[in-house]
Amino acid sequence: MPFITFEGLDGAGKSTQIARLAQRLTAQGLHVVCTREPGGTDIGDRLRELLLDPAQTRLAPRTEALLYAASRAQLVAEVIRPALAEGAVVLCDRYVDASLAYQGAGLGLGVEAVAAVNRFATDGLTPDLTFLFDVPVAVSRDRISRDMDKRGPDRIERRSDEYFQRVRTAFLRIAETEPDRVVRLEASRPPEVLEQEIWAHVQNWLSKHDRGAMRE
Ligand code: TYD
Repeated sequence: MPFITFEGLDGAGKSTQIARLAQRLTAQGLHVVCTREPGGTDIGDRLRELLLDPAQTRLAPRTEALLYAASRAQLVAEVIRPALAEGAVVLCDRYVDASLAYQGAGLGLGVEAVAAVNRFATDGLTPDLTFLFDVPVAVSRDRISRDMDKRGPDRIERRSDEYFQRVRTAFLRIAETEPDRVVRLEASRPPEVLEQEIWAHVQNWLSKHDRGAMRE
């Protein structure tokens, strides 16, 4: 069954769509495992606290990239690989592409360097399908600042518009480079429209791969 990831700037509406897709897949009788990054395991949740804590002002860029990769390594070993082995569909809110964009491009560490670290962390596990929720930086900023009435910005959200522009550009470049894996969604459209589009892609994937597998 497929390993599906969801990427994009904060506030692009990923979590709503992950929940809706999970519902649809479950209704088809499929076993679905939903998880998120950073976090998704005890160890990952501890790393998440460190990574998002605004009080951590001295985290060096390479340390940041390694901690995201460490959280991911744990998630792959403890949750994602076992779930795939049991035949579940795995839906993951962010994965390696987030590190390529936020750390590789955003922090200037280099996309290829961060990719190399992540090949090691994931032991080469690549998603079958990735939905890139694309919104302009201004829209993302607007949506997260509404959330921030409840809480202050986290360590990553405090970064500049220029930083997020680099992140968005990097995501778009990944989508262009890997059109078979990455589907770019215009995420400013209504949730119902996005839901239909995502469902069509997932069904297409399932009919291409799964029926083939069942016939064998
Ligand atoms: P997320 O869980 O989407 O944030 P929230 O709970 O606020 O919706 O992700 C946390 C932040 O971490 C987000 O700003 C993106 C960032 N991030 C990276 O910089 N690199 C990564 O590899 C990942 C997975 C996330």
